Amino acid sequence: MYKLIIEGGKSLKGEVKISGAKNSALPIMAATLLTDAPCVIRNVPKLRDTQTMVKLLQSLGKTVEARNNVIKIFSNGPLKDTAGYDLVSTMRGSFCVLGPLVAKLRRAKVSLPGGCVIGVRPVDLHLKGLKALNVKIEIENGYVFAKAKNLRGAQIYLGGVFGSSVLATANIMMAAVMAQGKTIIESAACEPEIEDLANFLIKMGAKIKGQGTPRITITGVKKLHGADHRIIPDRIEAGTFILLAVATRSDIIIKGACSSHLLALIDTLQGAGVKFNCTDDVIRVKTKRSIAPVSITTYPYPGFPTDLQAQFMALMALTPGISVVTDKVYPDRFIHIAELNRMGANIRREGINGIIQGVKRIYGAPVMASDLRASAALVIAGLAAKGKTEIHRIYHLERGYENLEKKLTLLGAKITRKRE
Ligand code: UD1
Repeated sequence: MYKLIIEGGKSLKGEVKISGAKNSALPIMAATLLTDAPCVIRNVPKLRDTQTMVKLLQSLGKTVEARNNVIKIFSNGPLKDTAGYDLVSTMRGSFCVLGPLVAKLRRAKVSLPGGCVIGVRPVDLHLKGLKALNVKIEIENGYVFAKAKNLRGAQIYLGGVFGSSVLATANIMMAAVMAQGKTIIESAACEPEIEDLANFLIKMGAKIKGQGTPRITITGVKKLHGADHRIIPDRIEAGTFILLAVATRSDIIIKGACSSHLLALIDTLQGAGVKFNCTDDVIRVKTKRSIAPVSITTYPYPGFPTDLQAQFMALMALTPGISVVTDKVYPDRFIHIAELNRMGANIRREGINGIIQGVKRIYGAPVMASDLRASAALVIAGLAAKGKTEIHRIYHLERGYENLEKKLTLLGAKITRKRE
């Protein structure tokens, strides 16, 4: 195991290039199960999660060739129907092989993903959507057994207690592209990653309309072919760099990002006094003076993303004054509060709210990463803190940030990795 050591309190300067979106890459890789023809996917970030998806596709019978950030996926033999516990339990994104497997094979056995430190994370909406498409679902020994003689299009309401679901929308869309007739998904997730997946499926021959809106209409086709696709930029990685630029009062040019995917964050920070200079694929953040505290509530896209909640909280922790961070998507996603408080922050949790009394300065300390985005919040806090921060269990970061230390070092950060 490795730890990260950060000497904080330095402002950063330079350019950073954003990688492809992890949350697009995972369902798009799963979508290749829908065809026997070769698919080429470009701009795939080299991460532990994308490697897990490669292993899962291989275990299902696919051949995967990876070179730099381009992967080619094709079939050399028959597809298998079982996604085992070992791989699905390590990454929830694996569950999105269920839709394409059942569409292609008319049967699938996929391990239930289970919960994680950010909450319970049920899959009821995935299963409800598949049942509506005429798939028989049984749960036995921790596995979902899905069977369908014929998948039939249907009108499906996919809104849940916490709003729309990203991966349930992905799963149902991937099953519906090969169902008989028309499927309408109401209250579909509008995330750019869902739009990216739909665009990939359309390149494969699927008939989809309305992607990026709450109503997606799919007309089933008999067969899909191969496709060549480039993954969109990772808006959460870009948002993390924006927040760390503001926290460290830095001047950073973020390249290869899509500012229109980050309007909720940019608008919130403009309200706090941050100046942005954005073009199509470049975001420049320059923060010299102090900013005002602002409150946020997370919502499904285009609302403020839950995947930037922890990083935003790190920034507000060192912004004097009171702010409130409310998470309506994952009401239990607050483990980072205790670690930020170890660094001198003053945050208390009240239900789904983090009440932050921002302080002038926080101090380096040994801290523990608990999940992917909480780890990013600790990196931001460590870079802004006075003194040395040691972040333990950084394997979480490797799940979602490509070359983070290298990118930060190029911006002038003092960050090193050491074996524990
Ligand atoms: C995806 C992202 C994750 C992000 C999340 C919310 C991937 C690989 N992961 O996860 O990074 O944090 O969207 O933006 O894309 N829910 C139910 N029933 C369900 C499914 C979800 O109640 O069947 C609830 C969840 O517990 C949560 C909310 O709906 O409270 C949103 O979850 P969802 O959008 O499904 O998250 P994921 O797709 O798993």
